[in-house]
Amino acid sequence: MATLLREQVTEVHHWTDRLFSFKTTRDQGFRFKNGYFTMIGLEHEGKPLLRAYSMASANYEDQLEFFSIKVPDGPLTSKLQNIQVGDELLINSKATGTLVLDNLLPGRNLYLIATGTGLAPFLSIIKDPEIYEAFDRVILTHGCRYVEELAYQEAITEHLPNHEYLGEDVRSKLVYYPTVTREEFRNTGRLTDLLGSDKLPTDIGLEPINPEHDRFMICGSPSMLKDICALLDGRGFRESRHGKQAHYVIERAFVET
Ligand code: A2P
Repeated sequence: MATLLREQVTEVHHWTDRLFSFKTTRDQGFRFKNGYFTMIGLEHEGKPLLRAYSMASANYEDQLEFFSIKVPDGPLTSKLQNIQVGDELLINSKATGTLVLDNLLPGRNLYLIATGTGLAPFLSIIKDPEIYEAFDRVILTHGCRYVEELAYQEAITEHLPNHEYLGEDVRSKLVYYPTVTREEFRNTGRLTDLLGSDKLPTDIGLEPINPEHDRFMICGSPSMLKDICALLDGRGFRESRHGKQAHYVIERAFVET
């Protein structure tokens, strides 16, 4: 049975005026697969005010981490953005999700497609040793409007490659591909366009995407999900539904408020 756990905030980091991350204590009984989400939030006027959030921490870590947008008039995030170390957070004990390895057919390259805070589940997944056993290449993309929104760059490009246990796999298999759409950067443009034109695979030395050897996990804004689905379906990829293995999986649980 699902219950509401009460956890303490242990760290808060504001990336920009639109984005922040926080960590909390973790109940020993709170279990999840990397890539899962749960409902988290605050008590407001005596009632729980909850939204779906992916865990950005791996399932073997002691604390939980979350990556959030701040919406000025959002019912939850307008309040959540003010949390401080020591505050109490509500976390539903039952986590779930579709962004899991079991839902994908075996393949060679795993593309993780994220826009905005859709990066969160993939921060958990790139810390999962099983992912590196299953694929030759893991391509972590992150599409944002501005360079300053490319959160976790240091964790991805500096900390993880030096991780005691994962470092070797990360250095040989993980490719990080950030791109921004509203200012100059080394990669620019929407992820849909970069995949559709084959620029992204070409930039990282891979062949154009093909259902024979490429697999996708996708998380981000509803319009991006819709456009990526259309692109992949047009190239012969099929979405995993009801736990049946296929070429790609999408997390549809999020509403950004
Ligand atoms: P753009 O600047 O062209 O809108 P947001 O902050 O609105 O969630 O957007 C995050 C990133 O996702 C931005 O770079 C945005 O590009 C991009 N984006 C928005 N809609 C789509 C879409 N339908 N397909 C691909 N990328 C998208």
